[in-house]
Amino acid sequence: MDLSCEYAGLKLKNPIVVASSGLTENLKNMKKAEEHGAACVVVKSLFEEEVCRISPTPRFEIIERRMGKLRSHTFYSFEQASNFDEREYFEEIRKAVNVLSIPVIPSVNCISDEGWRKYARMAEESGAPALELNVSCPHGSISFRGGDVEEKILNVARVVRDTVKIPIIVKLPMQLSSPISMAGMLERIGVNGVVMFNRLTGLDIDVENEKPIMHGGYAGHGGPWSFNAVLRWVAASSPHLNISIAASGGVGSGIDVAKFIYAGADVVEVCSLIYLMGYEAIEMILKELQQFMEQKSYKSLDEFRGKVSGPKILSNEQIDRRHIYVAKIDPKLCSMCDICRKVCIYDAPYKSEKTYVIGNTCDGCGLCVKLCPTKAIDLVSRGKEG
Ligand SMILES: Cc1cc2nc3c(=O)[nH]c(=O)nc-3n(C[C@H](O)[C@H](O)[C@H](O)COP(=O)(O)O)c2cc1C
Repeated sequence: MDLSCEYAGLKLKNPIVVASSGLTENLKNMKKAEEHGAACVVVKSLFEEEVCRISPTPRFEIIERRMGKLRSHTFYSFEQASNFDEREYFEEIRKAVNVLSIPVIPSVNCISDEGWRKYARMAEESGAPALELNVSCPHGSISFRGGDVEEKILNVARVVRDTVKIPIIVKLPMQLSSPISMAGMLERIGVNGVVMFNRLTGLDIDVENEKPIMHGGYAGHGGPWSFNAVLRWVAASSPHLNISIAASGGVGSGIDVAKFIYAGADVVEVCSLIYLMGYEAIEMILKELQQFMEQKSYKSLDEFRGKVSGPKILSNEQIDRRHIYVAKIDPKLCSMCDICRKVCIYDAPYKSEKTYVIGNTCDGCGLCVKLCPTKAIDLVSRGKEG
């Protein structure tokens, strides 16, 4: 099976890129990523702003999110920048480029045009095959300093494009008025790829002590819940772009990787999953991706890349809005737990002798089907419910 792909002009053996973070902060960690099957690493971001180079401790929190009985989690962290200074950083890049067989992409975050120029030049001189521009860090970046974020990002891209010849990739924040048009403008400037997206900036409150948790400030947050928003933008953007797209956000399995490929991503940048499971997670997702492709008889990623994107996603006008289904309860499976009745905003379920029954106000919305703990409810064609 062929998992190879091309990303911003680089040939990769598979679509798994370990995203910029502590997971790639030094050669030792980058080696681990390579040994476990990653096709590429983006190195922890070097910040021009020196205060960012020291991260506080502790800096990680896993926040359990609860909505009734449903649970999710937020991976919350304040791990800001590489603690290397610029000389040490590019020295480490030089070593990694020489020692590793996979591409090593530095990532930089600056506050001045001069800084962007200087770090871009240093990246090119270090032998790096490409450079990622982190204009979207949730702990401090141009995106969060007010003013016209879009114009600032375009300016950075122009400055760096005019400075170096190596491929440049812009890591976008999700909070843009239009990620699609932003990516299009970056393409016209000569950028070679975009990462959709960096994490969001969040806050959580320690209600006992009545202050922000952990280090006392805002923090980056992500988790499995961020996946669908990223998928939506990748699917909407990919048919309009001729540059590479790296999807980043919420990957938890090989199927998630496949979904990003369906949406048109060239590669996937993975981070939180590896923090939470270790580098073995790379092998796990690669195996799951291969198993999925085998089931579908796909021999290469190109066979299904972009298959669910752009015009394949129905517009408002195209959506089938007929109400052709109603819920039906199997009396043999109904445990009479009452959940369907409590949640139905159409007041359709009612109690009969030994089971609940769906009345004729059912709208066919399907929510009770999803919430029934004994899977006693199905949607059937209207007229066939009796
Ligand atoms: C602990 C941590 C540190 C990160 N550091 C950086 C960074 O230095 N530069 C950067 O561009 N993104 C950074 N990110 C963002 C990731 O590279 C990645 O894009 C994001 O977490 C979304 O992927 P995920 O949902 O798989 O974690 C970091 C994320 C985490 C969780």
